Amino acid sequence: MKFYVTTAIDYINARPHIGHALEKVGADVAARYHRLAGQDTFFLTGVDEHGIKMVKTAAAAGLEPRELADRTVPVFSSLWKELDITNDDFLRTSEPRHKAAVGQIVRKLLDNGDIYLGAYEGWYDEGQEEFVTETEAKDRNFLAFNRKPLVRYKEPTYYFRLSKYAPKVLEHIELHREFIQPESRRNEVVSKLKAGVDDLSISRATLKWGIPLPHDPAHVVYVWIDALSNYITALGYGASDNSLFGKFWPVNVHLIGKEIMWFHTVYWPAMLMSLGEPLPRQVYAHGWWTSEGRKMSKTEGNFIDLVKLRSVISSYSLDALRYYLLRAAPFGSDLDWSDADFNKAFNELANVVGNCLNRTVKMINRYRGGVLPAVGERDAIDEPMTSLAHKLSDSISAAYGKIELQQCAMLPVELARATNGYIDATAPFSLAKDPAKASRLDTVLNLSAQAIYRALVGMLPIMPEKAAAGLAQLGVDVSGKTLNELLSTDLPTGQKLGEGQPLFPKVESSKQS
Ligand code: MSP
Repeated sequence: MKFYVTTAIDYINARPHIGHALEKVGADVAARYHRLAGQDTFFLTGVDEHGIKMVKTAAAAGLEPRELADRTVPVFSSLWKELDITNDDFLRTSEPRHKAAVGQIVRKLLDNGDIYLGAYEGWYDEGQEEFVTETEAKDRNFLAFNRKPLVRYKEPTYYFRLSKYAPKVLEHIELHREFIQPESRRNEVVSKLKAGVDDLSISRATLKWGIPLPHDPAHVVYVWIDALSNYITALGYGASDNSLFGKFWPVNVHLIGKEIMWFHTVYWPAMLMSLGEPLPRQVYAHGWWTSEGRKMSKTEGNFIDLVKLRSVISSYSLDALRYYLLRAAPFGSDLDWSDADFNKAFNELANVVGNCLNRTVKMINRYRGGVLPAVGERDAIDEPMTSLAHKLSDSISAAYGKIELQQCAMLPVELARATNGYIDATAPFSLAKDPAKASRLDTVLNLSAQAIYRALVGMLPIMPEKAAAGLAQLGVDVSGKTLNELLSTDLPTGQKLGEGQPLFPKVESSKQS
């Protein structure tokens, strides 16, 4: 079993913000889950360096595009380290390995007769790096996605025979319901495809910053053809060592934002069809961080930037931020940052998960010298608790299978909440006062520990550091263990627990600006 997950590669003309972070954390959580499930996993992210937007931003800063890229790329790559993102590779589209492989890809498309020379006259959205048809341009009032005016282009260009592949792409989408997720996104793509598509301009003759076409270096490859190729060039496609490609392609899921669905579900499959390679198993579009209903972005001036993200991390912990990013809304839906919402999520961690662990560990320390007692006398109230705990691994694996990351975040918390309810209802502090109830107390302590143990294991992909720290309090070392190993057995009777420490200490400066 293998699992390959990718994110979009980011434009580096501006600094990263919470929208980029959501996507990378989402992919990281999926990758961590599949690794933990024992699957051979590859997680790719990177940066998209070419295109007109990059040239214009660099010029405005008095820099060459390359200089701007060299300055900005580390901002992205170091942020991913800070957010504990476990990508196996980080691809820059300016790297020789990528440029060489893109040259080969274009060469193959040419050899297949899928590329021909023509001329483009029409509109271009320089923010989205997208050719816009006359009808779409009118519908949009000649405005780009970022509300700047569309730009008129007139230049020779090479075309890719997209119209030849469009019916096959449509057929694929209709036959494979899992290909475009969430399902609600499928219709937009299908109806646009049914309306008919033109061939795609895939080279720019007026741009120097990019990958030259192998047979006509006066043109550079259109930035989307260049960028989409990263998903296979990073695996060594076209290189002498393409073993990663053999092992991991087709990708299990491309995780992207909803505005770039068309590129991933039409252009990219058409290119792969021409190359004779299998198509991605799934393209999953997450929602946008918005502010007052609009996509959060630098130009909107309303975004949660790195300063804000860092202040949240230092006040509440990285894992609390990771949890909130996924918990705030269903992964495919738009969401808005709200301090009140963040506090609610943090309180779930502190008051539900942290509290459940803390009271369980403390009681076992106080009443049983820190040693997990065996289950003793049973009561009817135990069964629902135990069965909820045992169901977690199935419900979580179903949620990961569907990339329902909000569910993945909430299910363990719900188990911890139920455990708190069980502790309240069984009142171990009263049981402890009556020696005749010792056996019953053993059961309550054991089952509470088993339940919070499972909840913490379930949280490992989302909150790797906090979940491992919580498990250490239960005497469990997670390193090197698979999910199955962790969940197939209960905590052993006689297990020596650690000291109970609050898992989510409240930091004094917990007010956000
Ligand atoms: N370079 C292209 C992607 C090429 S993939 C072969 C691109 N870059 S981007 O920097 O504009 O966006 C990168 C990713 O971040 C996209 O998936 C995009 O949807 C996501 N986000 C950027 N702003 C966002 C929000 N405000 N909210 C959530 N994600 C959004 O597109």
